[in-house]
Amino acid sequence: MLSKKIEKLLNQQVKFEFDSSQYYLAMASWAEIKGFNGVSKFLYRQSDEERMHMLKLFRFINERGGHAIVPEADAPERNFSTVNAVFELVLKHEIEVSTEINKLVDACLKEKDYTTHNFMQWYVAEQIEEENLARTLLDKLKLIGNDKGGLYLFDRDLASLAASAQSEAGTP
Ligand code: FEO
Repeated sequence: MLSKKIEKLLNQQVKFEFDSSQYYLAMASWAEIKGFNGVSKFLYRQSDEERMHMLKLFRFINERGGHAIVPEADAPERNFSTVNAVFELVLKHEIEVSTEINKLVDACLKEKDYTTHNFMQWYVAEQIEEENLARTLLDKLKLIGNDKGGLYLFDRDLASLAASAQSEAGTP
């Protein structure tokens, strides 16, 4: 059974994952209308993944005797200046999410809730991967600078990255 404190923190995390999904969806839409189809595919996929992160928490809360709450949606930004700026924001956002996850993990230890602590380890590992990926992509973009040809290739690479992630996940 979840304590009220942990239940509240898990529901807050549901909201963070939901906001991430909406945020990446807004970025995907911007990239799509600007003609960056690979970047857009990648971000649509990230948005789906964040929704999956949200649902995993959602189900856990109810399985543990709590009440998972559907969060209210805040309207995310809709305009971004450059692809580089988008990935700066992705990295910043993922670092913020990691901080929140760490706080939740810490609270689990204080409350002696080892079941939730164990469950949250999946998120800890996932955050390391997501931060690393965002950093790698940002490093590439920094090397590319204002080179249009480089950006074209970056966009193409992201299209294949999104496609391979999709086939790994077994989704069409
Ligand atoms: Fe699920 Fe990227 O936070």
